[in-house]
Amino acid sequence: MSASARLFALPDLGDLAPGEVRRIDDTPLGPVALVNVDGELHATSDLCPHARAPLSEGFVEGHWLVCPTHFAEFDVRSGEARNAPPRCRPLVIHRLVRDGDRYCLEIPDK
Ligand code: FES
Repeated sequence: MSASARLFALPDLGDLAPGEVRRIDDTPLGPVALVNVDGELHATSDLCPHARAPLSEGFVEGHWLVCPTHFAEFDVRSGEARNAPPRCRPLVIHRLVRDGDRYCLEIPDK
């Protein structure tokens, strides 16, 4: 984390089970998708980079988040896209920081 980056505390995610995804609205980074991959939490934009479908309405296969609209698959660790429509960009990945028993989004400097 850079010296001036800010943290945004996420709500309690207590029941987000492995293989599930949940949308968090109203963050400084816009809607965020939180994905539990085998107990490890990942944060991405909830907006598909192809046509802005809500990825939290898709599903999780391993570390891939599948778009509910055209079924592009995004690696929640890197943002890499596969089986995506032409010109689809990588998914935006956000950094998570653990603060005690809560998770926070790292808000990068502009
Ligand atoms: S809107 Fe997600 S792949 Fe098209």
